[in-house]
Amino acid sequence: MPRDVAKEDTHPVIRCDSVYKIFGGNAEKNIRDADGAIDVKTLQDAGCIFGVNDASFEVHRGEMLVVMGLSGSGKSTLLRCISRLTDTTAGKIFIDGEDLLAMNAKDLIELRRNKMGMVFQSFALLPHKTVLENIAFPLQMKGVSTQDSIKRAAAMVELVSLGGRENYFPRQLSGGQQQRVGIARSLAVEPDIWFLDEPFSALDPLIRKEMQDEFLRLQGMLNKTILFVTHDFDEALRLADRIAIMKDGIIEQIDAPANIVLNPATEYVAKFTNDVPREKVLKCGDVMEEVGDPSGISDMSVSKDAIIESVAEAVLNEPKPVPVTNGNDEMIGVLNSKTIIHILFSKSSAGTSPVA
Ligand SMILES: Nc1ncnc2c1ncn2[C@@H]1O[C@H](COP(=O)(O)OP(=O)(O)OP(=O)(O)O)[C@@H](O)[C@H]1O
Ligand SMILES: [Mg+2]
Repeated sequence: MPRDVAKEDTHPVIRCDSVYKIFGGNAEKNIRDADGAIDVKTLQDAGCIFGVNDASFEVHRGEMLVVMGLSGSGKSTLLRCISRLTDTTAGKIFIDGEDLLAMNAKDLIELRRNKMGMVFQSFALLPHKTVLENIAFPLQMKGVSTQDSIKRAAAMVELVSLGGRENYFPRQLSGGQQQRVGIARSLAVEPDIWFLDEPFSALDPLIRKEMQDEFLRLQGMLNKTILFVTHDFDEALRLADRIAIMKDGIIEQIDAPANIVLNPATEYVAKFTNDVPREKVLKCGDVMEEVGDPSGISDMSVSKDAIIESVAEAVLNEPKPVPVTNGNDEMIGVLNSKTIIHILFSKSSAGTSPVA
């Protein structure tokens, strides 16, 4: 998606260093006995399950990292480690530079109330409270007055387009509407970091697409740092700045969507990307070639950020290579019709690797 992540902001909001979450088999004792060494095979032989296996990555301010993988691959466990809903077996996690695992209960409550927001698959609305009261509730827990909290809740209702339903009870709302209340409730406290675990998975495809649009609109305005879990690759491609693909607790690849599709790091990632329509993912800048003979190029031009699908017909109708331009209208490469044909009709990434 064409959104600038603050790359110059080198201080990551979330940083994981070799994070492990190991279930069962007396994992902690086994690791202690081995002087802190984590030998996967020994632990697995002892009956341990690796929910998260050696995860290291950073998430920057305003970035949306989508975590995806099949059921049981460790997505929720990773999220639970970073929100400290579960204890991490080994490794380090930093939130805004602060050591999360060293925080005491008081710091943790502060962090959860003021910095982190969570939306889980089960909406967990309070059945005897109205839409407005449900959204205002966490604010009141924070000590905001009833009047102010209701005022803020009313603004959140507008934000998720539920105006007119303020006084409905959850049972009077559709699943998608309840989900929006859940999102509004977590947004009301203005978290900097937002954890969403398969928030749209219970929705039918049409509502789901609507919610994704709504979510992108909100993120466009609010620019949160987001960890979003899904097992739907299309959803990941629509939403992500970067995608992390997990398998058996291991992050197989963490990369920009186009790179995941163009240069899958493992067989497993390649399998995930096989059916992805490349023209919907790749941008002109991802597949352009170096400028050869500048006298033989077309008069038209395309932006490096344009999705291939949107320029394919025009480039195919143009016999000469088409200049690809950056934000300052400078030519930074060319797009050939043969590249477009390759993207449209070939499943393999051969011949479409980026020049840069
Ligand atoms: N409390 C637990 N005790 C033992 N094993 C667990 C526990 N929680 C999770 N696991 C195991 O850790 C692995 C990862 O589980 P997790 O819930 O993170 O998967 P997931 O990727 O979120 O799957 P899904 O898409 O089905 O939600 C699974 O093998 C699971 O059985
Ligand atoms: Mg899960």
